[in-house]
Amino acid sequence: MATTVSIHGMWSTRLAFILAAAGSAVGLGNIWRFPYTAGEYGGGAFVLVYLLCVAGIGIPIMMAEILLGRRGRQSPINTMRTLAEREGKPVAWSLLGWMGILAGFLILSFYSVIAGWTLAYAVRAAGGAFTGIDATASKAMFDGLVGDGERLLAWHTIFMVMTVMVVARGVASGLEQSVKWMMPALFVLLLVMVVYAGWAGDLGAAVRYLFAPDFARLQEKGGEAILSAMGQAFFSLSLGMGAIMVYGSYLRHDASIARSTVMIAATDTTVALLAGLAIFPMVFAHGLEPGSGPGLIFVTLPIAFGEMPGGALFGTLFFALLVVAAWTSSISILEPVSAWLVENRGFSRVRAAIIGGAGAWLLGIVCLLSLNHWSEYEVAGKGVLDLFDYLTANILLPLGGILIAIFAGWVLPRAATLDELGGTDRPGYRLWRFLIRYVAPAAVALVLLNGIGLFKAIGLA
Ligand code: PHE
Repeated sequence: MATTVSIHGMWSTRLAFILAAAGSAVGLGNIWRFPYTAGEYGGGAFVLVYLLCVAGIGIPIMMAEILLGRRGRQSPINTMRTLAEREGKPVAWSLLGWMGILAGFLILSFYSVIAGWTLAYAVRAAGGAFTGIDATASKAMFDGLVGDGERLLAWHTIFMVMTVMVVARGVASGLEQSVKWMMPALFVLLLVMVVYAGWAGDLGAAVRYLFAPDFARLQEKGGEAILSAMGQAFFSLSLGMGAIMVYGSYLRHDASIARSTVMIAATDTTVALLAGLAIFPMVFAHGLEPGSGPGLIFVTLPIAFGEMPGGALFGTLFFALLVVAAWTSSISILEPVSAWLVENRGFSRVRAAIIGGAGAWLLGIVCLLSLNHWSEYEVAGKGVLDLFDYLTANILLPLGGILIAIFAGWVLPRAATLDELGGTDRPGYRLWRFLIRYVAPAAVALVLLNGIGLFKAIGLA
């Protein structure tokens, strides 16, 4: 029988777990990354593929990740080792945990830089910098920030310190308290933005863009577009690197994993779509380019705030809450490595969080320099920040997802997963098992290999 509690603490209720996991899922991935990635790949068809990936791959893998965490009750590395040992399988399965730690460092490094942009924008909004701003001025303001390495470093540092502080305080007092009221507040504000953008911008164009699939556009970009839609699903749901697994390890045995997962995934997807509906009406009304890249929301939203009544207040609130959303995600990225340092190195939580955060902070400096002083250095046509983003979302997280699916579907005995998922052999369980054994691993592998051009290279496509 699995241990019933984690040494790191436990969520006080199932709701606390759902809020924390939804807090992990909802973040820059939904509001910053989703709109500009959808824009880069042409809108509707990308969104459709993304939704299919969330439902058919993301949900079953999230259930698997939570289930593994809850059975192992330790950091992902030790959870995988324990569970593999228990089944008489190679302890090399703990490599899945190590891969997650690597992905976590890479993600946190650039995530903190982008969260820094958000902090900077909250302050600008409060200072009235958006009043009456037009598209050109907004673009110039964004370029000015991104070009200023010292300022980026300051904001990146502040955000990383915020992240370390929460993780250092631990599960119940640190993680749990911070998500309780901030998530609902962000949701309400996003709704306000959608209503405003729909009224002041071109809602019709936005809805057509996001929801009318244009497969010709998707085909133009080919396998890369499909891989990016799947990568976006992994990134947005926080899957494949152990964040959700470690959160699952603090979940009580009697809480329903399936129901929690559906709520988390539904929240995450709703927020992403709302973000799209808040941003694209303004993009089209102001003749901006949907595919203009990572600056999209930072160029678009100030225009909306600049012209709406009370815009300085709404703008400040919006960017402040976006910081919070990023914060509740970044703590979940730092948690797996911190838990491991506590377990295997005997560190205190405080020390573990500081060491982990310092590593990601150093990597983050390389990311932020790639936007200005070091912008001429590129690997495979990408600067370091873009490269980390691509490597994690499109390669490492899906790889982690495949391994999680194989472990939960093929290595763990049926009885074990059945026990975690409610104990009765209903059609829902059988559907999950089918998806996790066959559909998820095969689909992720195909999309991955096709996306990195393997089939083309060997003449199959
Ligand atoms: N899901 C988070 C977001 O959308 C990012 C994240 C990725 C968090 C991976 C944890 C693990 O912003």
